[in-house]
Amino acid sequence: MTLAPPAGAGRLANTAAWLAIATPLALLLYDLPAGRLGANPVEEITLRTGMTAFALLAASLAITPLRKLAASTASARQLAPWIAPWRRRLGLSSFAYACLHATTWFVLDHQLDSSAMLEDIAERRFATAGMAAFACLCVLAATSSQAALRRLGGPTWRRIHRLAYAAGVAAGLHFLWLSKGEQLLPWAMALLVASLLATRVVRARQKF
Ligand code: HEM
Repeated sequence: MTLAPPAGAGRLANTAAWLAIATPLALLLYDLPAGRLGANPVEEITLRTGMTAFALLAASLAITPLRKLAASTASARQLAPWIAPWRRRLGLSSFAYACLHATTWFVLDHQLDSSAMLEDIAERRFATAGMAAFACLCVLAATSSQAALRRLGGPTWRRIHRLAYAAGVAAGLHFLWLSKGEQLLPWAMALLVASLLATRVVRARQKF
């Protein structure tokens, strides 16, 4: 049996995926004016935007292994072209949430006090890792267009886009280092990023 998406199903799946991506933002915009963000709204905004940015980054890293799996499975081969563009879409969506997350920290947490921010980044390892992840996402977003791909050339572009894995590792460390006590989710996310990185290493070795 072949898993060929019926006509219109691809568009429906795209719409569902975009709705899922926009839902955390919509909920935030719904809860904020209604005062439903708890006793510490700034912390709640930071946590929600950070978690969404990380989940979308992990989903974007999962796209290449999923696409390869689909392409090598006779019954799912036709799903591969639908899956492929989601690497960029999910990466840019992660960047958008990371911008909200970082802006919350820059503006609401630190009132744009650059010396306080630099002190935090230098002294608190979770902030160092968060900033490293954000810097990687900025480079990836700035070079994500077709025009950037043409300008840089395929091999250089691909080398730069390996930063997605560095962003995943830095975001994993950021989440692990800021979590208090024994929490399962940061470890689960770190394990997920590590497994996606491992599939990348295995693929690179198979090429030699
Ligand atoms: C400018 C860089 C960043 C700074 C300064 C920063 C700062 C913070 C702060 C202050 C918190 C809340 C800590 C707490 O109240 O316990 C946090 C949480 C978090 N951040 Fe970041 N962050 C940055 C970038 C990122 C990026 C790029 C990602 C993911 C791609 C990310 C993912 C997370 C996650 C998953 C959480 C925890 C959410 C939760 O516990 O539900 N952060 N970050």
